[in-house]
Amino acid sequence: MKFFIDTANLDEIREANELGILDGVTTNPSLMAKDNVTGEENIKQRYLDICEIVDGDVSAEVIATDLEGIIREGEALANLHPGIVVKVPMIKDGIKAIKYFTDNRIRTNCTLVFSPGQAILAAKAGATYVSPFLGRLDDISHDGLALIEELRTIYDNYHFETQILAASIRHPMHIVECAKIGADVATCPLKPIMQLLNHPLTDKGLAQFLEDYRKGSNP
Ligand code: G3P
Repeated sequence: MKFFIDTANLDEIREANELGILDGVTTNPSLMAKDNVTGEENIKQRYLDICEIVDGDVSAEVIATDLEGIIREGEALANLHPGIVVKVPMIKDGIKAIKYFTDNRIRTNCTLVFSPGQAILAAKAGATYVSPFLGRLDDISHDGLALIEELRTIYDNYHFETQILAASIRHPMHIVECAKIGADVATCPLKPIMQLLNHPLTDKGLAQFLEDYRKGSNP
């Protein structure tokens, strides 16, 4: 399973990248705003800064919601850097745009996906990635992980090449469950990635090893 970090914050991206396990980055307009990156030029510069740090796919989201606008913005984003994947919302013109981008060899991430039907359309249009938001489904008492399972079954049934990019991940068990289901990618904030490191028996065992080493060195 590939690991992407879901943030626009450069320090967090650097920290995850330094672990050596990072395969890419996802962003969205809310994450840009959270990091105080506003205005078209600053946002483009942030994408370039991210691409400088990470050797992998970087999702850059369009703001337009009409076909012409999505295509114009998407082409400009794709031209910024070879690592850019154009993130397009799951709407009618979004699907048309994804088909256009597919035909023109521009990679896409279909975002804001909440149902199997939406994911089928994204795959049929040739999206590189589909982003089901599992945490937001959990928030409204729907089973987000069940959606990831359904998508895995459907995509495997038809050998769709679209990669399932599990998004809106909130905690480390979401990551583990996505890996068990067979999601292709998990995109997560820094915190749940780092939480994967933790186990009290690791801490206890390491403390014991170090104490025994010290005893052996100073008998
Ligand atoms: O990648 C999608 C993600 O940014 C949404 O996460 O926590 O806002 O639902 P969240």
